[in-house]
Amino acid sequence: MAHRYSARSRAIEPFHVMALLARANELQAAGHDVIHLEIGEPDFTTAAPIVAAGQAALAAGHTRYTAARGLPALREAIAGFYAERYRVRIDPERILITPGGSGALLLAASLLVDPGRHWLLADPGYPCNRHFLRLVEGCAQLVPVGPEERYQLTPQLVERHWDAASVGALVASPANPTGTLLHRDELAALSAAIKARGGHLVVDEIYHGLTYGVDAASVLEVDDEAFVLNSFSKYFGMTGWRLGWLVAPEPAVGELEKLAQNLYISAPSMAQHAALACFAPETLAILEERRAEFARRRDYLLPALRELGFGIAVEPEGAFYLYADISAFGGDAFAFCRHFIETEHVAFTPGVDFGRHQAGHHVRFAYTQSLPRLEEAVARIARGLQSWRPDAL
Ligand SMILES: Cc1ncc(COP(=O)(O)O)c(C=O)c1O
Repeated sequence: MAHRYSARSRAIEPFHVMALLARANELQAAGHDVIHLEIGEPDFTTAAPIVAAGQAALAAGHTRYTAARGLPALREAIAGFYAERYRVRIDPERILITPGGSGALLLAASLLVDPGRHWLLADPGYPCNRHFLRLVEGCAQLVPVGPEERYQLTPQLVERHWDAASVGALVASPANPTGTLLHRDELAALSAAIKARGGHLVVDEIYHGLTYGVDAASVLEVDDEAFVLNSFSKYFGMTGWRLGWLVAPEPAVGELEKLAQNLYISAPSMAQHAALACFAPETLAILEERRAEFARRRDYLLPALRELGFGIAVEPEGAFYLYADISAFGGDAFAFCRHFIETEHVAFTPGVDFGRHQAGHHVRFAYTQSLPRLEEAVARIARGLQSWRPDAL
């Protein structure tokens, strides 16, 4: 008998890029050299001091649950990081350690979202956000954004899209897939617009640290009541360790702790012990060198793609993505991605994975490959454009 799975699960779309990736992997298994520009994680492995701390934690037997809120020493280290990087004092009691930024998102969604309530989200944006909302029976209200507002929500957009069922906004700075930031004054204005309507503001800051030429402001510098999610995945290069955190206003902490106990008991213990090494000067020096490498890659790939005719109207200031308009070449973005996998063995992500607004003629490139690989990718893309026939399918 066929199972009937929940409507909530069936409503969640898969990553469309996975179908392309399966084909890319097939080609790779057949011996082709595939260049992966679709992957949203740093190509560097975890920095040596963090790995060493993880190994020491295992050897010392730190293999059991921790408190649901996480190791006190790690929460204090994170509070110290806020004091140093952002000049804001955060009581460690307000920090919950979570399994990835994804775990923080799950906590925030579980705490704040009631069935049928609307949350404003930028489109394009990180697809899991609207799916998390769906899981808790909330409703993502996708707000189309473009280069005019640097792909971010603004107070004007909040004004236009807020309705009787709206209760909050979830934004990311730097954003995925566009790499754009909300600067301090913009965060303050957005926060004021949401507060004026009695709503909640959740800010995803998981690409903090990966900004080039500017430092990202935390919303906590301007709004002590915002919810902030962050992660050890991207800047700290620990994707596979599954570790992140949530900063919440003090009154919410007890309720969140209860949710954490029930949803996942605790974040991985050895990962938490390993992460204690993240804030040591020798580790930060390695991470800053990696940040400089990402900046070099962006500074190469951005003009190179523009030169080929890709439309990248706004210079991204952070993350490791370029979101490009392919209108100049014609055709649909999914077919365009498939063409480059088949003919040139270069993989990148179609816009449909990030929303609906103009998704059919956008693609995302992740510069999570070395400079020589990026140069090779650009040469192949230039060649592949010659054989691209938008109407061939
Ligand atoms: C904008 C954004 N938020 C959250 C996440 C979740 O990452 P993690 O659970 O590894 O912290 C990602 C991952 O790509 C992301 O791009």
